[in-house]
Amino acid sequence: MFKKLSIAAIAALTLTPGAFAAGDTDTHIEDFDFSFEGPFGKFDQNQLQRGLQVYTEVCSACHGLQYVPIRTLSDEGGPHLPEDQVRAYASQNFEVYDEELEDTRAATPVDHFPENTGAGAPDLSMMAKARAGFHGPYGTGINQMFKGMGGPEYIASLLTGYTGEEKEEAGVTLYENTAFPGGWISMAPPLYGDDVEYVDGHSTDLHHVSMDVSAFLMWTAEPKMMARKQAGFVSVFFLSVLTVLLYLTNKKIWAPVKGKGRKED
Ligand code: HEC
Repeated sequence: MFKKLSIAAIAALTLTPGAFAAGDTDTHIEDFDFSFEGPFGKFDQNQLQRGLQVYTEVCSACHGLQYVPIRTLSDEGGPHLPEDQVRAYASQNFEVYDEELEDTRAATPVDHFPENTGAGAPDLSMMAKARAGFHGPYGTGINQMFKGMGGPEYIASLLTGYTGEEKEEAGVTLYENTAFPGGWISMAPPLYGDDVEYVDGHSTDLHHVSMDVSAFLMWTAEPKMMARKQAGFVSVFFLSVLTVLLYLTNKKIWAPVKGKGRKED
């Protein structure tokens, strides 16, 4: 028995590093502190509004958000912009193709954000969820479980992870990035710090702007996160009450039987 166990232990110790090495061990994801982490975490409305600005002014040049309806910008629990501002935002920033008009027109809140495939950049609607479990030690999602590190941390680390090194491969310029699996990404550094001007006077250094846009992308990927957490909390509360009631009921139902048994002893 002992021999078998020790063989298993040795096998586990010697084999696993080999197996893990297949993953990318060099990537580094920083543990950013987001307001929406933890069971009671909430989106910071001002941060979402700043992130929307960064997306609009910088990222939307290459990335679409085709699954996000523009009207949701006025949702409570999201950026919560007044409806007239959302209308103005849609018409000033985006054009959509209207099948009835057979022509393009200014976007309205009922439209989705446009898709954008021109630069070969992936759509960002779900990116924060899509990348949630793909990093941490050996891509197992361990970091997400224990430290709450998920997609937004990955995106913020990606935006702040450029080393400045470049190389060319088959005619494509690649940029070294410490967060990107493989270490080289074809997206040129989109942010340097001071890329935008915030009306609320919040810091525009690289770290903060990256966090703002990552928080915004977490909201696009899971707009109902706050409602989900609240529902979870309420159900756990009711289940706890139910547990106590069931326990007491059980005691009461069995009391005559158990009580009698003890007396006879
Ligand atoms: C000049 C065009 C351009 C701009 C501007 C741009 N990106 Fe990208 N982005 C790309 C391209 C191209 C890729 C695909 C890179 C690859 O797979 O090598 C990409 C990939 C990504 C990815 C996916 C990385 C992965 O894990 O696959 C994320 C996240 C991302 N960009 C976020 C952003 C954010 C946030 C902004 C705005 C701050 C932004 N990008 C601005 C071109 C751009």
